[in-house]
Order: sequence, then C-alpha cells, then structure tokens
Amino acid sequence: MIQKYLLVASALFCFLAATAQNKTGISPREHLQIDKDWRFAFGHPYDAGKDFNNGTGYFSYFAKASYGDGAAAAAFDDRAWRKLNIPHDWAVELPFDSKASLSHGFKAIGRNFPESSVGWYRKKIFIPKSDEGRRISIAFDGVFRNSIVWVNGFYLGTESSGYTGFEYNLSEYLNYGGENTIAVRVDATMEEGWFYEGAGIYRHAWLNKTTPVHVVTDGTFITTKVSNKDAEVKAEVTIINEDKTSAEVQVRHAMFDASGREVVASAVETVRLNPMKETTLNTNMDVANPTLWSLEQPYLYTLHTTVMVKGIITDQYKTTFGIRSIYFDANKGFFLNGKSIKIKGTNNHQDHAGVGAAIPDALQEFRLKQLKAFGSNAYRCSHNPPTPELLDACDRLGILVIDENRLLGASSHHFNYMKRLMLRDRNHPSIISWSIGNEEWGIEGNELGAKIATTLQAYTKSIDSTRIITAAISGGWQKGISNVIDAMGVNYIGQINTDQHHAEFPNQPMWGTEEGSTRATRGIYVTDNEQHLIAAYDKKPTPNFVSIEDGWKYYASRDYLAGMFIWTGFDYRGEPTPFGWPSVTTYFGMLDLCGFPKDNFWYLKSWWTNDTVLHILPHWNWKGKEGQPVDVWVYSNCDEVELFLNKKSMGKQRMPINGHLEWKVNYSPGTLQAIGYKNGKKVAVESVSTTASGAAIEMTVDRNTILADESDVAVITVDAKDLKGLHVPTADDEIIFSITGPGKIIGVGNGNPVSLEKERFIETINTVDINLTKEKAVASMDGHSQEAAIDFNDTNWDKAFKDDRSKAFGNTVKALVYRGSFMMPQYDSNASINFFSKSIGIEQTIYVNGIEIASHQKEDKDIVIDKRILRSGKNTITITAIPLLKKQDWDVVNMSPGIFQIITPAAAWTRKLFSGLAQVVVQSTGEKGRIVLSAGSKNLRSASISILVK
Ligand code: GAL
Repeated sequence: MIQKYLLVASALFCFLAATAQNKTGISPREHLQIDKDWRFAFGHPYDAGKDFNNGTGYFSYFAKASYGDGAAAAAFDDRAWRKLNIPHDWAVELPFDSKASLSHGFKAIGRNFPESSVGWYRKKIFIPKSDEGRRISIAFDGVFRNSIVWVNGFYLGTESSGYTGFEYNLSEYLNYGGENTIAVRVDATMEEGWFYEGAGIYRHAWLNKTTPVHVVTDGTFITTKVSNKDAEVKAEVTIINEDKTSAEVQVRHAMFDASGREVVASAVETVRLNPMKETTLNTNMDVANPTLWSLEQPYLYTLHTTVMVKGIITDQYKTTFGIRSIYFDANKGFFLNGKSIKIKGTNNHQDHAGVGAAIPDALQEFRLKQLKAFGSNAYRCSHNPPTPELLDACDRLGILVIDENRLLGASSHHFNYMKRLMLRDRNHPSIISWSIGNEEWGIEGNELGAKIATTLQAYTKSIDSTRIITAAISGGWQKGISNVIDAMGVNYIGQINTDQHHAEFPNQPMWGTEEGSTRATRGIYVTDNEQHLIAAYDKKPTPNFVSIEDGWKYYASRDYLAGMFIWTGFDYRGEPTPFGWPSVTTYFGMLDLCGFPKDNFWYLKSWWTNDTVLHILPHWNWKGKEGQPVDVWVYSNCDEVELFLNKKSMGKQRMPINGHLEWKVNYSPGTLQAIGYKNGKKVAVESVSTTASGAAIEMTVDRNTILADESDVAVITVDAKDLKGLHVPTADDEIIFSITGPGKIIGVGNGNPVSLEKERFIETINTVDINLTKEKAVASMDGHSQEAAIDFNDTNWDKAFKDDRSKAFGNTVKALVYRGSFMMPQYDSNASINFFSKSIGIEQTIYVNGIEIASHQKEDKDIVIDKRILRSGKNTITITAIPLLKKQDWDVVNMSPGIFQIITPAAAWTRKLFSGLAQVVVQSTGEKGRIVLSAGSKNLRSASISILVK
C-alpha cells in the first residue's frame, strides 16, 4: 500500500482553510527513504573482538540506557567499512560452498560460517533543529534477521523476524541540529525458511516524522461494500496524541479518484484526546458509480485523512485502496465484483538472479509482469510477509494475492506477527486472503493443529473479517487444520482426494495453494542426472505429484475449486530437488531464476490467456542424433496443429482442451515448422531451426528509459546469435561486461541451477590493525625521526600505555614516542590503501617505516598511502604525540592509532550464457544521461546497448 504523505496544504483543506496552516511551515508528515550511504562490515556471532567489541562493557546496553558499545556506540570509527546503499543482501555476494546449507542455496552463511553470518550497518543522519518537538521514528521494511538497532548508542530494540517490518521511536534520543548515528547488527546465522532468504537490510528503511497528534503507523483501514452501482466506503482511522496536554482533535476524510479529482468528503469529526491516548474513528462515505478494482482495470482511489488541532493541520495521511467485492462460494469458487474468476496463481519466494533477496522495486514489477505474461492472475507470498512494494505493484497490475504469515502459532508472539502483517497490508485491494501457515507437518493432521489454527483464525478475523482465512495443508485430512480452516488450501492433489473432502465439507471453499513442484531446466531436453539437468517436457515428477498439465486439467474441471497456485512461478535458490550440491537453485519454476521462460510458460499461456499461442519444443540442434527419434511437443490453443520437418508434413492433430500435442520426429537438421488453425483457418506459424554456432552477442532491454533515482533498474537479456541471426539455444560462451554512464551493474545470472559463478562483482575491503607495543616519554614531540627507523632498537622502552593517562601523568610527561607494527598481507597491484588515523594524542606526527605521513595532526585524518612506503609482511609505525589525558577518572582514553584499509577493485563483470541466454541488471546511479552496457566474448562479435536515464 502506498502511503504517501502530503507535503503541502492543498484545496482539500477548504474546511477551516483560513486557519489550516502549520505554524512552523514544516510539513506535518514526512516519509523519507534512508537507503543511501550506509557503512557495512562483517561482525561475528561469538568472537567479541571480531564483533567490534559490542556488548563487552561492564554494563551492557541492556543494563543502562545509552550504553551501546563497540560498533553500537555513536563514536565508533567506521571509516574503513564498506560504503553501500540498501536494499542489500550480503548472502548473494558470498561464494558457494558444499558445506553450506542446501536450503539457502549453498551460500557460505549459517552456523558453519561465523565469519560471514553477522553483518553490521551504520549510518549518520542529520536532524535539523527545526524538527525539535516532532515525533520521529525509524522504520525498516524487513531485515534478515534478528536485528538489533541503536541510535546514538541507545538500544532501541531487537526484531527476530526476517520478514516483518518494524519501527522504533527516536524522538527523545536525537541530537537536533546535528548528526545522529544509527547502528544495526544483523545476525543471519539461523534460517527461518527452508529456502533462500538473503541476509542484511534487504528492504527499504525510512525516517518518519510527524507532529505529536497524528495517525498511527498503518492506522487506517478502508473497507468497501459494493451494491448495485454504488459503494459504501468505510474508513477507520486511529489517531494518537503524543503531546503533553490534552487536545481537541478534528478529523476529516476526502476521497480522490485516480485522476486526482475529489469524489466525496466526510464531515469533520471532533474528539478530545488526552496525552498518550489514541482513539479510533469510523466514517462511512457513499460513492455513486465507483470504478471498481478489477484484474483488467486495477483502479485505485486515495483517501486523504486530515487531522487538525486548533485549526492547525497536524497530519495529512494518504491511503491507497480499491473498491471491489470479493466472495468465495464453496461450490462455485471465487468471485470478484460478482464475476467468477478462476485463480491461476503461482507461489514465489523473494529471490532473483544476481541480487538475491534485495530486489529493487522496478525488478519486483518486472517479475510480476513475467508472471502475467503467461496469464497468471494471482500470487501467493510463500511463506512469509512480502515487501510492501510487491503488494503495491500487485494493486497496480491487477494481481490477486494470498498474504502469508511465517509461523503458525497461538501465543501472543505469533498473534503479534499476524497482526502486524495484517495492519500493514489490509488496505491492498489485491489481497483476497490471509494465510495463517504452510504445511505444518508436526500438527496439521492432528487435534493440536486444529486447536492452534482455530484460535489464530479467530484472532485473524477479529482484525479483518472481509477476507477469507486459509492455510496450506499437505496431509492429515481427517482431524487436523483442514477441518477447521475457512478456506482449505490444498498442497498437491496427489496428496488429497479433493472430491471426497468437498463431499465431507460441502460449505468449505477450497483452492490449490500448491500444485506442480515439477522439475525442468530451461532449454534442456535430455535429462542427465550426472550433470543435474532435467528435460523441460512437463512430466509427473514423482508419484505424489502431477504434471502442470494434469494439475490444471484437474482444477479447471472442478468449479468448487477456486483455482490453483503453481509451485513455483520463478526458480529460487535452495531446494534443488531432486539433486544436492552443486545444484544451487530449484528446478520448480515456470521461469528460471532470471525470469526466462521454461516451456511450461507456453502451456500455461495457451490455456490461461486469450492470445493465440503456438510453441514448439525442443530446439532443433541435435548434431550426432541424425535419424534418431526426438519427442516434439507443441503447446497451443489452436484447434488443430500441423507439424512439418523441412516442409514435409509430420501430420495434423486436434488439440485437446487444456492439453498439448506430441510427435515423434526422426532428427535431421533443418526447420521444424508448426501451423496452427482455428475454425479451419490458418492463424499462426511457428518454427525452430538448426543453427550454426554462435557468431554474435545481441542484447535487449525491458525498458529503454529508466529514472535517474539511484534505484530504478533496466533488465538486459544477453543472447547468442548465429550468422543468420538465429538464437543459438546451446551457446554457453562467457561474456564480459563493461558499463559507462550513470548506471552500474548490480547482478548477473543465467538461470543455470548448477552455475557456481559469481553473481555480484564488488570491491573487497580488508583492514589491517595496528599493534602499538612500546612507548618512551620525551621532552617534545619533535626531533625523533631517528626513533622512527624500521630497525630502531626499542627493547628497553616501556610497554605502550603502561600508565594511566591521569592528570598526574600529564604533569610529568609532556610528549611520547610510540612504536608498533602492522602486518601487510599480499594485495592486488590495483589495490588502494588508506590509513584512517585516530588521535592518541592532542597532537601527533605519524611515521610508517621511517617515513613521515602526517605531521602535527590535531584530529583524525583519512590518509591515502603511497604503496611504495609499505613492505609486505611486517611494517613499523611510529607516532610522536602530546598525550591525551582523562578529564574524569572513569574516562577511557583512545589507545588505537587507527586502521589501514586495503580496497581491491571489483573484477570485471562476467557471466556465461546458459542455453543461449544470460541476464544483467543495471541500476541508475542517480544522474541523468545515457548508460551504455557493452558485452564482449572470445568467439562472438561484441554488442552494446544504450539506456536513457531521465
Ligand atoms: C512444499 C512446500 C514448499 C516447497 C515445496 C517443494 O511441501 O510447501 O515450500 O518446499 O514443497 O516441493
């Protein structure tokens, strides 16, 4: 749900218009994205030193307010950390490892990989003085997982869920008119799902600013009742008074259509609110002749809620919603606006080639459009709350959604997660059902499961009674969840006799929450278990599962079944059934991890859309199989199809409804051609030809123009063509990419489940700590260059920081010379090296291997190191300083002189073609201009493509 917040007063506030001004001139509500300019570094789950000494203080941050220590402290020095923007998924950047979890696609993360399972993010935020008095909070749409957040060293809270959004109030902790530090520790050691889940702040983060009297977060709930040509719109709004005094609050709603025209407004309601009290108001508005939200025309309205106190606008809150009616009939299935709709859905995880779980908003939309392209009209968010932008896109594109809870349970903990999911998502017209859980094998077939589901279902209905509650069930049909759930979610018809269940429970709507789990490798037509390749003919995978075709025939022929959700729309990392290492993604998708169609796409498009479809499989490059029979299948919705090989007819066949056609054709190179007829008339021609080997690269892009917003993306398909321009379906050339202009590559992929290639090419950052071992008191800072020599003998000096830096120490010691060392590892000749100095004196001069790199420095410095002064292995550092002294007894003076940082630039982006294709995702870097992506390869002519950034 897009909840954009108005920044300026508008005609909407004609009521009390004369006085409806905010005194300060500040927008009453701001919703600011804070995705840019974060710092990132790996911490550690149990080694405190590697976890930046967080939680090592005598008093922990749980013991005393403001005691966030180590990397949680405001003053922590993060200059050597990597700079990045979120959304960020660090798991996708990690190598694959056979010891890693199969569920997480063998990425080197989890219990066996402590060095790469905890990530720290830090960000500085400036808060203007003028914000004093406002309510300010930080909101994360989702962090995987177990995140702890601090602001300015104050502990704000822990969120264990990797999927549920959360928000913390910052108002009292902030430094107004200055800098503030946000620190987030993310621990992705544990998995929540049995599928790839990413790691890190992989969704957007926000700063929300309001005046004290405002609509609470997710504080509106709009429901609509459609009757004849009219609709009743019911708006529920919850307002809170976070001021110190009680307030008389006025509230008014106005509803706008998609063109921005005001359709109807409510009367002003007045309510008195005591400090820290909230209240919920209900308002009904009648709308004549509304445009209904439908799959064909997903029409959206916006409700503007205005809150005023003493004639001053204190909040303006926008809620996007749709007017539509939904209804499930136990015998006839699902109805939208009174019209029967068969649900043609897919299940999906949040995972895409190259970027993992950190899917940019534009890529979400790309993915949904790929699903729509084969006629899919529904999406099940399996098995967790999705990112809000996915739901926004479903609203805009006209896609029905099952919004799913992560973990079934009946404690307040589980209620809380269900509630937060529902409050956040309840205004999306696309959502038609809440799912309370999936395949809870331990309980789904027993009374315990029935009890838990009954309680959670009742709780869910107490929050929203307008949508049906479902659960996806895979077994135990007699006494478990299936008997008590409002809408029975069938996971696989191979596992349940739905006709029998329907006869026993004639009033219970039913749908296929999962069907399929078929296996196919895109572009592969001969199964090779050794190579982990599965032919892409739609076959029954195992006794308990059926082919996509048999699944669809089953659902299409039964009105009482509202429809089905295929497992899955897209391939995802993890669950490489029936294989293990080195397969790293599933084979289940109708599309591969990039969104390239497998052949089932055309089966579904034939029967799920009204477009004329004619598709032949396999490809026709079978060198060495001359004269041998090849299975040729045709997907089509034509009445009849005739197949030709090199112009010779192989026979004409009638297409069965919801079926496909098969021929056995003895291979000889050339062209297979299919001609499709409808009502006896030729309506479609399709062919596949034997190709020569690849000669040239071709690139195409999903959108030629993207926005200069540092977020928008273009999705580029890289293809190999032979000399005649035919797509070479077997090409596997390695392609090297380069890019110029205001864009950067953020991921590459090719949909090959056994590819262990890198998906992101990023610079690597290593840091080198300094060990200061010795010190000597001297009369003055100057004149000590001889003591900085590499081989200077300091054996008789004192241990560094031997004495407490008390005032008394300062009275006797005026200056010090420190000596120490650091170990330089081997580094790339292109690496750059920085030294981030940290003051250990009021003033200091620094030498590396006897060479002065900073003189009489009074503050921390970022110093670019001339690599010629460094040695591989042991180096000497010498610092002469006027000592820093404690002001208070309990002060701790800094003893770390800083850190060296080695930046190894990213290698060139490369990717092999798989079955002739690869994908590159390019993102705007914020400026306007023209991006040129170039691709080269050893045996193929290079290509480039240009994308306009506006
Ligand atoms: C189902 C499960 C899905 C996925 C699928 C693979 O049992 O709900 O999450 O694991 O099997 O076939």
